Amino acid sequence: METRLFTPEEAVEAGCLLSQGALVVFPTETVYGLGADVFNEEACARIFSAKGRPQDNPLITHIFDTAQLDGLVLSLPPLAERLMDAFWPGPLTLVLEKNRRVSDIVSAGLDTVGVRMPRHRVAQAFLKAANTPVAAPSANRSGKPSPTSFAMACNAMEGRVEGILDGGPCENGLESTVIAWTGSRWAILRPGSVTRTELFSILGDNLEGSDATPHGELEKRSPGTRHPHYKPSIPVRMICSKEDLNKAYQEPYSTWALIDIKEDSNDHERGKARSGPVRLYADWQEEARNLYSDFHELDVSGVPGILVRLPPAGGGIEEALRNRILKASEGCI
Ligand code: TXA
Ligand code: MG
Repeated sequence: METRLFTPEEAVEAGCLLSQGALVVFPTETVYGLGADVFNEEACARIFSAKGRPQDNPLITHIFDTAQLDGLVLSLPPLAERLMDAFWPGPLTLVLEKNRRVSDIVSAGLDTVGVRMPRHRVAQAFLKAANTPVAAPSANRSGKPSPTSFAMACNAMEGRVEGILDGGPCENGLESTVIAWTGSRWAILRPGSVTRTELFSILGDNLEGSDATPHGELEKRSPGTRHPHYKPSIPVRMICSKEDLNKAYQEPYSTWALIDIKEDSNDHERGKARSGPVRLYADWQEEARNLYSDFHELDVSGVPGILVRLPPAGGGIEEALRNRILKASEGCI
């Protein structure tokens, strides 16, 4: 298939393609999405084949105006409007009771639909031109890290979709936070760019604590958490301690790439003693922003593997970063 590439100034042309049943990759502040008209079942079904995505994993729907919620959802749970006021447009996905117009392909047979309103200016122009809510998973091939740049999006999807819209590098670099009302409180189904601390500032005790979710319950609530995710094709190992870091300077790991933050930069004074590339970031936010593009670049660079610092547990971006690194490494230290 021939893929048309659109500049950011051509967001309207790219959005108009969706009414013809096309698949178009578009930028958001989190990661690039692989979009189709949510009400076009055939186009939504093609998303799954373009990605190689399991059918049991539902798609997030993207809107630019809350008026679009009418055709998508039946009702709003308590505090939903407070959440929208506080975090939309932005990287928060609310799982809501779906309108029957939303097909089972989009919701993977669930009676809910995930909805979010992106903040990215190019995404907003694209969604407005589309003139319909847009179903879109991250634009990676299933299991791989999500694209956070135009080049990564092209690498993953050129030849598989009708269009790819350039919006530059993604500001956040990790996916949106997905939350759902459980009947008594809001629960985080997937940690992401909106942090637990930020959610708590709006929800207070109406936010389920991180240790409150019964084991196995998260997998039931959010199908996507069951599948392997965010993995480069080379091995990823976590650095959790000083001893782990020492190993990064010894055989065989001294040839592996190392991703860390500058906090302990004294520990990296020995940097010259290792031959693998080192990427040091100012803080966790910067590590999060660059994680997927690093994974992608290092994956194709010929290094044997990637060592990456696991942040400590915390209410900030650490929670999402830990989640992605734990999955990419399958918990291997
Ligand atoms: O930042 C993002 O969220 C990006 C951009 C493109 O918006 N999208 C994204 O989509 O990451 P995807 O499909 O890669 O991940 C969506 C996650 C999956 O874990 C899925 O299981 C969960 O959201 N999800 C979607 N709809 C759901 C629903 N109705 N109930 C429970 N979980 C849902
Ligand atoms: Mg994804």
